Amino acid sequence: MAFPASFIDELIARNPIEDVVSSYVSLNTKSGRLWGCCPFHTEKTPSFSVSTEKQLYYCFGCGKGGGVINFIMDIESLDYPDTVRFLARRAGLTVPEDGSYVSTAKTKTRLHELNRQAARMFNANLWEPQGAKAVEYLMGKRGLSKSTITRFGLGFAPDSWDATMKALKNQGFTEKELLDAGLVISSKNGKGAYDRFRNRVMFPIIDVAGNVVGFGGRVLDDSTPKYLNSPDTLVFNKSKNLYAINLAKKNKQRRIILCEGNMDAVMLHQAGFDCAVASCGTALTDEQARLIAKYADEAVIAYDSDEAGTKATKKAITILERHELKVKVLRMGDSKDPDEFIKKHGAEAFNTLIERSENHIEYQLLSLQNKYDLSLDDNKVEYIKEATKLIASLPNAVSREVYGARAAEAAGVSSDSLAVEVERLRKNRLRKEKKAEQQQMLTPADTLQPKERSLRYTNIRSARAEEGVLQLLLASPELMGSCAAKLLPEHFSSPLLGKVYAAFLQLFAEGLNLRVAAIEGQLTDEEMKHVISVLQSDRIIGDSKRTLSDYCEIIKTEYDKRTYSGEQSLLELRDSLRKRKGYEDDE
Ligand code: CTP
Ligand code: MN
Repeated sequence: MAFPASFIDELIARNPIEDVVSSYVSLNTKSGRLWGCCPFHTEKTPSFSVSTEKQLYYCFGCGKGGGVINFIMDIESLDYPDTVRFLARRAGLTVPEDGSYVSTAKTKTRLHELNRQAARMFNANLWEPQGAKAVEYLMGKRGLSKSTITRFGLGFAPDSWDATMKALKNQGFTEKELLDAGLVISSKNGKGAYDRFRNRVMFPIIDVAGNVVGFGGRVLDDSTPKYLNSPDTLVFNKSKNLYAINLAKKNKQRRIILCEGNMDAVMLHQAGFDCAVASCGTALTDEQARLIAKYADEAVIAYDSDEAGTKATKKAITILERHELKVKVLRMGDSKDPDEFIKKHGAEAFNTLIERSENHIEYQLLSLQNKYDLSLDDNKVEYIKEATKLIASLPNAVSREVYGARAAEAAGVSSDSLAVEVERLRKNRLRKEKKAEQQQMLTPADTLQPKERSLRYTNIRSARAEEGVLQLLLASPELMGSCAAKLLPEHFSSPLLGKVYAAFLQLFAEGLNLRVAAIEGQLTDEEMKHVISVLQSDRIIGDSKRTLSDYCEIIKTEYDKRTYSGEQSLLELRDSLRKRKGYEDDE
């Protein structure tokens, strides 16, 4: 581990999970735990709980859970080392930056530098003879001004297999670094490398901190692929970034306009809409929505008006709403995207479009009206079915009444009868939600197999006992000593639970506190999810020492059965089991 365990121990001690979580979620005490509404999924009744005693959080609704480090990693979208730095800052601790994580930080800085140099070079290429056709494309064909090109740092990657690579090597970057940044691709025979971006106009992608993290490159004609993007790298993840967020985050209106294409975002900025960003053709993710919610209260979706865009809009509405954004949707009529709309109708008209834009309920109701021919009875019935479903999902009674009346009018039925149907659906829905939540609360984690296939238990009897051991140790760390003497990680049938046990042993050996957060750097998301679902459980335990010894016995018996080799006779096995049992009873 790169951060010293003793430092992590202090970090956790100085960041009590209840303090950290309550700056994001409002918590109330109920039956020995703190409860709140889960920040990771939408819910009306709180199923997100924090145990101060075990220093962990767990959501009975979505199953997310972990210690304080995991919580910050998820809610702030930070990686492990940056989370450690974040929590250190919060608690006023100095991070001992000398482990291998330092080199990650260094590599990142180096990649940022490399990308910045590349962007600078691509931009300079524009104003050289080789860039003339790109300038003609950007300014002539697409109508961008020189200052827009400069503001976005647009550029040109030459029509060559190695010009970019050579130039950057001359500036002192290694081929390995160029590969790591995704700027070059290693050739099939593995001997050489060549430029990824060739003969394309370049859009540098810049993160909120102002670092150039990647590129999108567009062809100058109709060839394919139209766009080529940087692959995922240490500093770039397409689905976590938003193009132009570095500029849009400065807007004062607390509004973000979300479009699909890079070119749409650039064009909107040029037209004076400095809050435009692009999702770069990917389906909107929670990370992106969280980013938007940081800088805005209102999100205006301006996706392409084709079928794919309409579908993407529907999905984006759900995700943006989850992050408590007020969502509006633009209809651009005869234009396929904002870029085309601005060119056809101008900035003023686009502004009117925003001002008159429908909130997403109106948008969805109108989409339904377009889908059905309301002069036909059977269509009308289908329309009412879907519309009532939509309206029943609205949390606010006034909106239900307003939109209910509107839907009723469109279908030509009385608003009273529609309202009755809405209420019926709503009650049904609430009942179902409540039932599902209760169900989840009642299902003890220890009767469940891990959701992830690769983590499935092969020996349920042993695995239950292994779960029990970990639960007991977390609740009564003073048992660690006697347990360490009896039970080895190898005895565990579940490699995951064995790994957690080994980590506990390690902490114990170093005289550190047994805390979930102390092992968070060592487990994957899926592993963590399962471990927490096990550890959060408060099983009623009588004599914990006795119980622990029973668990150990089961685990070791099952271990013996597994490792029993065919050469031994069954009798011998029985004898050895008996002998051990007798020995343990004498203790
Ligand atoms: N995209 C991509 N790969 C492709 C096509 C598109 O990554 N083969 C991404 C790009 O980020 C692009 C976005 O999806 O900006 C939206 O695609 P599209 O609407 O086709 O792009 P526009 O920006 O509208 O392109 P243009 O107006 O230049 O044709
Ligand atoms: Mn376009």
